Amino acid sequence: MASNKSLLILPGDGIGPEAMTEVRRIVNWMETNRAVKFDVDEDLVGGASIDAHGIPITDEVVEKAQNVDAVLLGAVGGPKWDNLDFSIKPERGLLRLRKDLELYANLRPAICFDALVDASSLKPELVSGLDIMIVRELTGGVYFGEPRGIEDLGNGIRRGINTQVYTTPEIHRVARVAFELAQKRSGRVVSSEKANVMESGVLWREEVIKIHESEFPDVELSHMYADNAAMQLVRAPKQFDVIVTDNLFGDILSDCAAMLTGSLGMLPSASLGDVDAQGRRKALYEPVHGSAPDIAGQNVANPIATILSYAMALRYSFDMPEEADLIEKAVQNVLAGGMRTADIMAEGMAKVSTTTMGDAILRELDKLSA
Ligand code: NAD
Ligand code: IPM
Ligand code: MN
Repeated sequence: MASNKSLLILPGDGIGPEAMTEVRRIVNWMETNRAVKFDVDEDLVGGASIDAHGIPITDEVVEKAQNVDAVLLGAVGGPKWDNLDFSIKPERGLLRLRKDLELYANLRPAICFDALVDASSLKPELVSGLDIMIVRELTGGVYFGEPRGIEDLGNGIRRGINTQVYTTPEIHRVARVAFELAQKRSGRVVSSEKANVMESGVLWREEVIKIHESEFPDVELSHMYADNAAMQLVRAPKQFDVIVTDNLFGDILSDCAAMLTGSLGMLPSASLGDVDAQGRRKALYEPVHGSAPDIAGQNVANPIATILSYAMALRYSFDMPEEADLIEKAVQNVLAGGMRTADIMAEGMAKVSTTTMGDAILRELDKLSA
């Protein structure tokens, strides 16, 4: 039996725990059916941590996250905690994890499964066969820049401040991740910023070009303003292979790309740091979607984005590409069989609950490995 692999599960809030229940069953399936053992620990993040400890993540949980092979996170946030001070909102728990673990490269693959071509809001021919990788810078930019805050200017006037800031090493390291991915794919990178209006965008473009010329001349690089990229994503998405962009534009463009695949409930992600001296790469896996308060607690959420995030963990952190392929194949077959959660529902299909979708994927795993 292979050595134990450590996994920290942080279900979080809203539909996070519902989707994570299905992932736990797949982790158990792997242990029963494959020569693998996961040391699984589970803890609190987001609103769940606020309710228990008054803060969105404790130092103890951050330390646990620092010391495992991979973290798997559900989602954080919800109306219950929306009016808290910014410093202790649920989202801060996730942002602290990303920052403290230096998870600077967020890989957000948008793949349109054949069975879901009709679930997209775009015409089938635009999304059929779609396979895009958005590489979002995750630990810099306006999310973390200083100064920030809300100031009182007197006379009833207030000022809200956030700062977009990037250093050259921050741009270089995420650009390298994008170019390396492109080399294993169809060899094209589109870098997206707003160099027409932002100095940080000018720097981004110049530095991406430097890394391209000096280290990856074999990759085809082009540049696109972020507003145009949003438009092009819904006009002709298949022109893209790898997109590399900053933290905020990456957040927006990836939600947009999600709809190309049929639903936000389909998109997984991997947030990766550098490889350390022990050869371990810090990593956190989470769906692109949030806690979906509008459907939480009803057992109707689509668990596939979270399940595919676990598959990405198998691929990138646990060196188990065959098992990752197996999960992706099982999802594909279940969708091809006509099973749908409400978000990807179409006429003539069977609308099922979160649990039933999990059951079907487990049954398909059994079938595929029989
Ligand atoms: P959201 O992603 O939670 O939901 C947007 C819409 O998509 C909703 O209508 C929701 O029902 C639907 N949806 C999302 N995931 C789905 C799934 N798996 N199955 C079916 N439908 C799904 O975004 P929001 O409503 O803007 O934010 C809600 C809360 O989640 C906020 O507190 C926000 O900060 C937080 N959030 C957290 C994360 C995260 O933890 N990574 C990501 C995004 C938003
Ligand atoms: C995401 C989310 C987060 C972000 C929030 C919850 C902090 O929208 O992961 O896409 O803005 O990065
Ligand atoms: Mn987002």
